[in-house]
Amino acid sequence: MLILGLESSCDETAAALVTDDRRVLAHKLAGQEAAHAPYGGVVPEIAARAHVEALEPLIAAALAEAGVSLADVDAIAATAGPGLIGGVMVGLVTGKALAHAAGKPLLAVNHLEGHALSPRLADPALAFPYLLLLVSGGHCQLLLVEGVGRYRRLATTIDDAAGEAFDKTAKALGLGYPGGPAVERAAAAGNPAAVPLPRPLKGSAEPHFSFAGLKSAVVRAVGHHAMEDIAASFQAAVVECLIDRTRRALAAAGPVSALVVAGGVAANGAVRTALEALAHERDLRFVAPPGWLCTDNAAMIAWAGAERFAAGMTDPLDVPARARWPL
Ligand code: KG4
Ligand code: ZN
Repeated sequence: MLILGLESSCDETAAALVTDDRRVLAHKLAGQEAAHAPYGGVVPEIAARAHVEALEPLIAAALAEAGVSLADVDAIAATAGPGLIGGVMVGLVTGKALAHAAGKPLLAVNHLEGHALSPRLADPALAFPYLLLLVSGGHCQLLLVEGVGRYRRLATTIDDAAGEAFDKTAKALGLGYPGGPAVERAAAAGNPAAVPLPRPLKGSAEPHFSFAGLKSAVVRAVGHHAMEDIAASFQAAVVECLIDRTRRALAAAGPVSALVVAGGVAANGAVRTALEALAHERDLRFVAPPGWLCTDNAAMIAWAGAERFAAGMTDPLDVPARARWPL
């Protein structure tokens, strides 16, 4: 079984071909960093226009790389939300058009489900249920993944997402956009104990995350400490918050097969190392997809589509695009 996946919900345009036995035949991606960099963040209108230009050539390139044609594809999976609505519409409508023209079933995939199931593409042994820390630019959640289409949200952020905090910190430190990788590089040269920063909600009885106070403290520290020390201290604070909240969720979740991390921030080495140590402490397997599968891509959408297709969950051609769509 061969699935074509399309992703266009934020600032990456992507197309991928993935089989139900976990072979990624092609995954193509066009970032828009240069287009958004002057604005210090993603501009929705610019993103939507860039998706229109980039998507069709990426699909053609993916098909060529895999050596297949649309006729060989069994179903078409497209992100239907949540995300910037203009971009979501570009990918979803393209998916609908291809599905209609080629007479293939459509799979309208929730972007978060793409992230949530991506670890199963990377690791065939990963079984349900698992505890997932989903940390990206738009989301920071702890999910109990019980099966395909069965997600229980145990915690979410009450203000900023973790990736958003990385991006805002990068902006405050003059590191540009996107911020996560730049902050991680700067942090490597800094002292994580140099700047006293808050750990919002650490030790709290409620399950959620909060990063707005940490970001404000970073802004106040600028000019009083070395940039690298602020980056390192910020990253250490984020890691402590993520670990504290994940430890709490593990205690509340009941038995799970593994501790899993996904989403763009899962590409961060300090985050991965700390989660791995927590899993070890709890005698749990730790699963983290490779970096390219953590940040936005279409292979995870194709894979979530493959899992949904196998479960008989196809969608009608009038399925809506959604800016907001909780799992
Ligand atoms: O999953 P993703 O590609 O897009 C969303 O769905 O949001 O995540 C992007 C986020 C951005 O905030 C980016 O700064 C962050 O992931 N990120 C990182 C790293 N690489 C990407 N954050 C920390 N360290 C990294 N190495
Ligand atoms: Zn994402």
